[in-house]
Amino acid sequence: MKQLSLKGQTALITGASSGIGKACAEQFAEIGVNLIITARRFDRLNELAQTLTKQHGVRVTPYQLDVRDNGVVEAVFKQIEQAELDIDIVVNNAGLALSSDKLQDGKTENWDTMIDTNLKGLLYVTKAALPFLLKKNKGHVINIGSVAGLGYYTAGNVYCATKHAVNAISHTLRMDLAGKAIRVSEIDPGAVETEFSEVRWSDKERAKKMYEGFHPLVGADIADAVIYCATRPEHVNVSQMVVYPQAQSALTDINRTGDQPKSIFDVTKNRKDFLCLDGF
Ligand SMILES: NC(=O)c1ccc[n+]([C@@H]2O[C@H](COP(=O)([O-])OP(=O)(O)OC[C@H]3O[C@@H](n4cnc5c(N)ncnc54)[C@H](OP(=O)(O)O)[C@@H]3O)[C@@H](O)[C@H]2O)c1
Repeated sequence: MKQLSLKGQTALITGASSGIGKACAEQFAEIGVNLIITARRFDRLNELAQTLTKQHGVRVTPYQLDVRDNGVVEAVFKQIEQAELDIDIVVNNAGLALSSDKLQDGKTENWDTMIDTNLKGLLYVTKAALPFLLKKNKGHVINIGSVAGLGYYTAGNVYCATKHAVNAISHTLRMDLAGKAIRVSEIDPGAVETEFSEVRWSDKERAKKMYEGFHPLVGADIADAVIYCATRPEHVNVSQMVVYPQAQSALTDINRTGDQPKSIFDVTKNRKDFLCLDGF
């Protein structure tokens, strides 16, 4: 199997202070990729930078970055340029869901935060990063979407909408970059146990329950998918990868019984055991 060596390249990751983004930083560092890690919680980034540099000898540069603020995004990319850091791979990972309200009960400030982070933030970062890739006509943009961007669930309204938008951006960016040697991939995870549900509900107990009774994905499973996409030979573009935990058979169906369904009939019979009533 031909695998592209990324040693010495630089990956910029948004939302690297936790979960999937942090796991991506760890796995890129393991294969010798230098890192620019960003998020709002700088103390976490600093600690991660020190650990990864010590463990793997890679250069890790942390930047505090709130992707919702385009002025800050532009300023950080200016600093990256002034520091003469390069960017080969961009992982647009920063994102969140807030609450699980039906639209009629939704809080507009939650909608704004999700749209500003998951959609506008991804656009701002991509626009600011692309000149680094275009300059050398080489690179890879990897967007973390969601299975919520490929389907629908009750009360998923705005979170689903932002992830559907990420899916549209991934497809159209690939088209906009036609003729350039830049790859665009999207990874769409199912249920991953991270801080995601805690952030969503501000309720540790409820978040813990979300992952009970089945074996969820962890951040490292999605990082593994990111590394797979990035290490394909340069003429190969994995355009989209959907990754579910084995126990999740569809966006809204998680088997929490501990046994895997033997037939579709069993799934129907035990429907209440499979429904992911709170969504994710
Ligand atoms: N967990 C799942 O089941 C799941 C499933 C499908 C897709 N996803 C997607 O995976 C991505 C990562 O989520 P996760 O599961 O790893 O959750 P997580 O553990 O809560 O991590 C989210 C990351 O996003 C960052 N972030 C949030 N708002 C930000 C902002 N305004 N500016 C910059 N960074 C921001 C957070 O950092 P700071 O708070 O330090 O800024 C954190 O590092 C998200 O896009 C999410 O939608 C998750």
